[in-house]
Amino acid sequence: MDVSQMLTRPRRLRGNPLIRGMVRETRVSKASLIYPLFVRDGENILEPIPSLDGQLRCSVDRLGDILEDVAKAGVSSVMFFGLPDHKDEVGNQAYAEDGVVQRALRWAKERYPELYYITDVCMCEYTSHGHCGVLCGQKVDNDKTLPLIAKTALSHVQAGADMVAPSDMMDGRILAIRQELDQHGYIDTPILSYAVKYASAFYGPFREAAGSAPAFGDRKGYQMDFHNRKEALKEAALDVQEGADILMVKPAMSYLDIVREVADNFNLPVAAYSVSGEYAMIKSAAKAGLIDEAAVVCEAATGVFRAGASILLTYYAKELARWIDEGRIG
Ligand code: PBG
Repeated sequence: MDVSQMLTRPRRLRGNPLIRGMVRETRVSKASLIYPLFVRDGENILEPIPSLDGQLRCSVDRLGDILEDVAKAGVSSVMFFGLPDHKDEVGNQAYAEDGVVQRALRWAKERYPELYYITDVCMCEYTSHGHCGVLCGQKVDNDKTLPLIAKTALSHVQAGADMVAPSDMMDGRILAIRQELDQHGYIDTPILSYAVKYASAFYGPFREAAGSAPAFGDRKGYQMDFHNRKEALKEAALDVQEGADILMVKPAMSYLDIVREVADNFNLPVAAYSVSGEYAMIKSAAKAGLIDEAAVVCEAATGVFRAGASILLTYYAKELARWIDEGRIG
């Protein structure tokens, strides 16, 4: 090869950090991060979660310990997951006025009003059988579950939630929630839909943390089959029609093609959830000394944004915020 004929040299734009920073195509910002947080019944509890090294289950009265750190890191949004002491067939504690998420919202909104509060809306942490809705025999009854999901969302908003995020995967739940909120005057409260949620083994550590593994069977009757791509577009389109404000794809890492498809096909912001199994894998590999934790987390998070998401839900939100400040990504 005659190198004098080589007009284009991609390395010219990689010569030093300044030029690399200038031509960077994906920018990662702290404003895009949401931190998932487990609130449980009880008092004075701040307990480590064995399956999620570095994460805590925390009672309402100790929420300040975590929210303080979140705010200090510069993360402005949290997503609450509720862990009730009492579970029953129909998940009463999901929509109880004094349920754990409802109390957490009242407590936190008063003390940390500068944060943005999102709630996961689902039944599985509240039902004795661990399924995401009410049962009819061995099956989750879609249409009987809808009013309970809508009621749960409303009770969260009444307790102060800024946004609700249904993760149950019942058909029609976005419309059911939208109508319930609107009828009660909450026309301006957005819905972040877990629109494209696959039945995934990557949720394992979360179910351990939440004690929400199904007592029998699995979630394949309502969560999506991971072999499918077109179905993701169908689910997203339905949620757009039903009034969703933000579309979420979950999990993130093994589904970046789906993130790209959803981002290309809809004019709504796209979020991705880097789930418990993704976190646990990186944590344990880092602990074993096999990978550089910060470098890998930064690379994985950037991949999600490069795929088209503009919002990332991650257990690494606080650390990522710090690494953004330190210029490890940006
Ligand atoms: C509730 C819910 C789950 C997750 C988020 N919301 C569990 C599930 O669907 O089984 C998983 C989150 C994670 O793994 O980090 N339905």
